Amino acid sequence: MTLLYKSTPERGRVWKELFAREAPKIGFRIWPDVGDPGDVRYLAVWVPTPDLIASLPNLEVLFSVGAGVDQFDLGQIPDRVQVVRMIEPLLTQGMAEYVALATLALHRNLVDYVAAQRERRWAPIELVPAAERRVSVMGLGAMGQAALEALRPFGFQLAGWSRSERSIEGVRCFAGPQLLDAFLERSDILICLLPLTPETRGILCRKTFNRLPRSAGLINAARGAHLIEQDLLAALADGQLSAAVLDVLTEEPPPGDHPFWNHPRILITPHMASNTSTEFGGRALLDNVLRHERGEEMVGVVQRELGY
Ligand code: NDP
Ligand code: OXD
Repeated sequence: MTLLYKSTPERGRVWKELFAREAPKIGFRIWPDVGDPGDVRYLAVWVPTPDLIASLPNLEVLFSVGAGVDQFDLGQIPDRVQVVRMIEPLLTQGMAEYVALATLALHRNLVDYVAAQRERRWAPIELVPAAERRVSVMGLGAMGQAALEALRPFGFQLAGWSRSERSIEGVRCFAGPQLLDAFLERSDILICLLPLTPETRGILCRKTFNRLPRSAGLINAARGAHLIEQDLLAALADGQLSAAVLDVLTEEPPPGDHPFWNHPRILITPHMASNTSTEFGGRALLDNVLRHERGEEMVGVVQRELGY
């Protein structure tokens, strides 16, 4: 029985040793060393080659080595294969840190101060107390909940939006498309931590921005395709949005002439909000494989009909 791994080689080497130590019955192979394709029961991958999944007739579980599964064409994966996303504590912690960083940057006008420094201007801006700032998170899964937890100590007015109803202490929770407008209307800083699905693609668009209070700030640390980039530029130009912090873009890296590189009101980071940790990610993968071997439910199984 084989687990085939296809992602960064360095992490693969460490995970191979972990499996050799703790689950020696499972052969750990690093792509392109597939061995007998009929032996492969588990595939741990970021982006598979086009025919890889179809070439594995006995595949039972497809593990994403990251939190997202939008890199897979879920409709092309045979029904017998379970799809599992990565949930591990450092991946979650990294996102919590990034959201705290980006939220404080917007809350404390960092974009303005960076511009002022470049222009040799000493120009303090009046402080808005955190208790008066309404900060909202789209997506209340592993990432969204950790982000809200990290923001809680600052005393912001917190809200969250999800597909199904959730209850989180100290967070005003909204659910479903019918409550999206009510959620947006109370969002001075809007943070996107949704998975990319047919329903959420392009959700950060002009219509959404128009529902926000004037001069709202935007943070996108989910996927570039959540955002209609032209709509962001237009909303910044007319002042509906005041600034944006983006960790993800439609094209990564963006081309050299992309307007975001030099935009005075956009901070971009190179998809580094968070990353699967070698240590904890390997442990999470191993635990899930052992769970599956025992016939137990794995952690992070994707509801394929929902796309996340
Ligand atoms: P989860 O699957 O745990 O959570 C997804 C959340 O989004 C759930 O609360 C879900 O609602 C909600 N949701 C999904 N669809 C809709 C919808 N149509 N309307 C409203 N709410 C919806 O995902 P994670 O929190 O683990 O990860 C979220 C995303 O973050 C990943 O898919 C990935 O794209 C991104 N990410 C980015 C990283 C980076 O470095 N930039 C690192 C890690 C993740 P419900 O609770 O009802 O199910
Ligand atoms: C992920 C990511 O989904 O790093 O894990 O974007």
